[in-house]
Amino acid sequence: MKKKYLLTSFMSFLMFTQLYGVDGYEVYKSKCSQCHIENISKADVVKNFATMKAPPMVEVANQVKGNIIIADDDEDVHRHVVKLFIKDYIDNPFLDKSMCNPMALERFGVMPSQKGKLSADEKEAVAEWIYERYEGVRFK
Ligand code: HEC
Repeated sequence: MKKKYLLTSFMSFLMFTQLYGVDGYEVYKSKCSQCHIENISKADVVKNFATMKAPPMVEVANQVKGNIIIADDDEDVHRHVVKLFIKDYIDNPFLDKSMCNPMALERFGVMPSQKGKLSADEKEAVAEWIYERYEGVRFK
């Protein structure tokens, strides 16, 4: 009985480290936070606009999650497509793809490509983190 329990916990440990080997929040902190503030109100954005380098991540998440609408409202498909957009944008940011509002785009310019700075696992982890972190968190 005990042996079986140990084996099961060891196996869940292995699966855990395999799936969550890369911490999305750590990736955000080291690769995105120098430009994207994690969470800030619209009022504070106005106050800090002069020193900001990019739209805050809470706004990015709201925009991308809100603008991508899946026909049958399937949450898994929505998550998948939102994450694809984010992972692609990290490597290939492009004016025509940006959902950023024109005023912010004029102020910040298009995001510089981060190609080669993140591994595939890091991109996956940070995209997943962005999706989860801002569940129910409105930019207001
Ligand atoms: C050197 C600064 C900089 C870094 C580093 C940076 N970004 Fe950006 N990012 C920007 C700017 C500026 C914009 C707004 C203009 C645009 O949409 O391209 C932006 C826009 C985005 C958008 C598109 C938002 C939209 O509404 O269309 C996504 C998604 C994004 N960033 C994700 C990330 C992620 C994830 C990271 C970290 C892996 C990251 N960025 C790192 C500057 C940066």
